[in-house]
Amino acid sequence: MERLHKFMARAGVASRRQCEELIARGRVKINGRVVTTPGLKIDPLKDRVEVDGRPLARPEKKVYLLLNKPAGYVTTVKDPRGRAKVTDLLRGIKQRVYPVGRLDYDTEGLLLLTNDGDLAYALTHPRHEVPKTYLARVKGVPAPEKLKALARGVPLEDGPTAPARVRLVSDKGGNGLLEITIHEGRNRQVRRMCEHIGHPVLALRRVRIGPLELGGLKPGQYRHLTFREIARLKKMARPGDTQN
Ligand code: URA
Repeated sequence: MERLHKFMARAGVASRRQCEELIARGRVKINGRVVTTPGLKIDPLKDRVEVDGRPLARPEKKVYLLLNKPAGYVTTVKDPRGRAKVTDLLRGIKQRVYPVGRLDYDTEGLLLLTNDGDLAYALTHPRHEVPKTYLARVKGVPAPEKLKALARGVPLEDGPTAPARVRLVSDKGGNGLLEITIHEGRNRQVRRMCEHIGHPVLALRRVRIGPLELGGLKPGQYRHLTFREIARLKKMARPGDTQN
């Protein structure tokens, strides 16, 4: 629900104050009936608002999807090489959603898709980038001091990486499985970090973004976020919030 004059201002009719005046003068109708109370609350997705007889476009419903991206898909909305796109996996989603941030073609795992531009912008802004956790299968088993170096930060060609959380989860089959949490979002960052310590990534999966977890979704499957998840994400992305 939103106050009528705020909704009108957001739709680009005029300033909030001018919208209040338009309402008071009886130039605005809701669902065909003139209203003169500016503070009235409306449902922007359901109520039909007219100003001087002209209907205002309804805002698009916001959609938030959590996808388990399979390897072999690009996260861009267009691909000049014609490769499969993550948006090809969506069925019956009428809104045009796009990925928040990116995952490499070969990387699997948690990808958020939305048409909420404000949230997408806030989540990817370097100032409050939320923590992202990856499981990386690497070649060989890194020694403890190499894991410490990774956690402290390693010098990459675009500058040193910020401190990360790094844990050796298993060393089955002579290759290490690392859990790595980073707060940055540089291109191919985890792959380049592991390469730097001499243990290139064999397979990479993102399992967590802030409060969101991949859970039991199979590659290619997706679900809508819950209200609680959306609220927690928005809280995390609020400017001035330092919890991440
Ligand atoms: N780091 C990488 O190297 N690749 C990804 O897809 C995400 C993070």
